[in-house]
Amino acid sequence: MSRYHEVYESWKKDPEAFWAKAAEDIDWIRPAEKVFDPEAGIYGRWFVGAECNTCYNCVDRHVEAGRGDQPAIIHDSPITDSKRVITYSELLDEVSRFAAILRDFSVEKGDRVIIYMPMVPEAVIAMLACARIGAVHSVVFGGFAANELATRIDDAHPKLIVSASCGIEPSRIVPYKPLLDEAIEMASHKPDTCIILQRPQRRAGLVPIRDHDWAELMNRAKARDHRAECVSVAAADPLYILYTSGTTGQPKGVVRDNGGHMVALKWTMKNIYDVDPGDVYWAASDVGWVVGHSYIVYGPLLHGCTTIVFEGKPVGTPDAGVFWRIIEEHGVKVLFTAPTAFRAIKKEDPEGEFIRKYDLSGFKALFLAGERADPDTVQWAERHLGVPVIDHWWQTETAWAIAANPLGLGLLPQKYGSPGVPMPGYEVDILDDAGERLPVGELGAICVKLPLPPACLPTLWQDDERFRESYLSRFPGYYETADAGYVDEDGYLYIMSRTDDIINVAGHRLSTGAMEEVLASHPDVAECAVVGIADDLKGQIPVGFVVLKAGAGRDTSEVEAECVRLVREKIGAVAALKIIMTVARLPKTRSGKILRGTIRRIADGEEWKMPATIDDPVILDEITEVLRARGLVRGA
Ligand code: COA
Ligand code: AMP
Repeated sequence: MSRYHEVYESWKKDPEAFWAKAAEDIDWIRPAEKVFDPEAGIYGRWFVGAECNTCYNCVDRHVEAGRGDQPAIIHDSPITDSKRVITYSELLDEVSRFAAILRDFSVEKGDRVIIYMPMVPEAVIAMLACARIGAVHSVVFGGFAANELATRIDDAHPKLIVSASCGIEPSRIVPYKPLLDEAIEMASHKPDTCIILQRPQRRAGLVPIRDHDWAELMNRAKARDHRAECVSVAAADPLYILYTSGTTGQPKGVVRDNGGHMVALKWTMKNIYDVDPGDVYWAASDVGWVVGHSYIVYGPLLHGCTTIVFEGKPVGTPDAGVFWRIIEEHGVKVLFTAPTAFRAIKKEDPEGEFIRKYDLSGFKALFLAGERADPDTVQWAERHLGVPVIDHWWQTETAWAIAANPLGLGLLPQKYGSPGVPMPGYEVDILDDAGERLPVGELGAICVKLPLPPACLPTLWQDDERFRESYLSRFPGYYETADAGYVDEDGYLYIMSRTDDIINVAGHRLSTGAMEEVLASHPDVAECAVVGIADDLKGQIPVGFVVLKAGAGRDTSEVEAECVRLVREKIGAVAALKIIMTVARLPKTRSGKILRGTIRRIADGEEWKMPATIDDPVILDEITEVLRARGLVRGA
């Protein structure tokens, strides 16, 4: 029997008592004066008046409690053929030294530090060191190009940037340092200092005065036993900023606080994931995404688990058995990844032969999120792994699951295609355009009643107005998730699509609007549209349509190739925009709105209706032809 309904009801009856109880699992320097203050912040703030330190709760307290010799981080890097185990005691040493180094470079409480790194333990050490001294980190995913990094530098104004000489992708070494240098060159804000982790695969030249070598600084700090202790920060002080795609090229700086974040994440570890302190927990994601923040770093470390930092891919490093090798070798109890990783494995190993080569007896559950988990993939994983496969739904903005099937509270019956039921903290309603609640089974905007629970974003970095406008203005009293879906008679949610122009490519959240901005900057492009269409491996892929300027007189395939390169250069390889089609014109409404949704439905082979407001219906036939010619119409 699941305790879910009982626990959800207990939260609903008294949310403050519920979160006050959860807060007992965190060590506070000073307890909260108010568990929730509705007058503070934009929609209220959690644990107002409390003082705490996130790094202390992730590291120091476990060493004090006798977990010093337990591995805190296992770095398993098949791509560099290396492994490294860092115990909690060692992590404490490294983090307190790096925190002291940050201090030496005048980084103080409230200052921002950008971390632009591949999947190495130093990325986690840098994050925790910031938390230790109350600095606010902002991790930028390594697959983003210089321009994206520059945008974040100009928004966050970091005093210091921590980076590495290179990242390693299966087909190539990605030199990070030239990207970093270019980004700093482009940005109007200049950081005072950069600390660079030199990797043997490709060392980087250092700029005198500004750049410093990670290893040299750490060796010197070790020789002097130079350390920084945890500082006390307010629960509502920011722990980090994580930029995520918005509807324009300007990403949104999601702010995470210290206190509420710890309380909620700690609660999820037992109640949603059913892991205990000492267990090995693995989120095969990247520290550049929210899944990495919450479940590679903070969740497992707050709970005293061992976390795996994996530098590799589900397939090809070296084969589709790498996940099972790691689960067996390190005794992983719970794995969390994106469905796309499983689709990649399923494609390479449809009969699950690699799975049978390993002893997975200690493996208890697989969690999926980041994009829709298609029932085929979920059932394939269930069949071959013999453990619960649990889809759950959340966003960068929330830091933890809005809906899940909570393993720790006892599983509810599995419903394929649904990521489960709302978690305590979230009252979810489906609203129509007028903001009225829709009945069971009807599709609408998925919204969460305010206040949001602890850990959810209190605002956007230095942009309260954009926060209100993006999330709170359309449906007063609610947070708008920008996902559309419905709820069934048992309260299970179904997430159908985004209501904005965000797409999900291989579990990476990307803005088609940002890609359109880049295409529009090409000198020969008059107009453009980017649409996310269904893809068997990546869930969705972007395809671009361009209309060339009259008299451009260029070879269209050349312009198309330039457009592909431009997006790769400006946004990064991760945008995965590889298909551009030149068309004579774009389908629009009479008011000039491009019919992106209709194009998507045509490509996905879904039913579609001719929009009543269409300017010229013939254009949709032209687009269909172009898509067909490229083999991009499903079922055609
Ligand atoms: N640094 C630099 N480049 C990166 C990068 C990084 N950290 N991560 C990805 N890229 C590059 C890739 O090399 C690829 O470049 P290419 O176009 O030259 O091949 C491009 O960005 C697109 O990457 P991706 O969409 O990840 O596709 P892929 O072909 O490399 O791998 C999968 C396909 C399915 C194996 C892979 O997407 C995967 O494992 N995804 C897991 C999803 C995930 O972790 N999501 C996080 C949320 S839970
Ligand atoms: P991100 O902020 O990168 O985590 O992306 C959040 C978005 O990914 C959500 O708003 C959804 O559109 C999508 N998403 C995340 N998890 C799921 C899921 N389990 N099912 C369907 N869509 C999901």
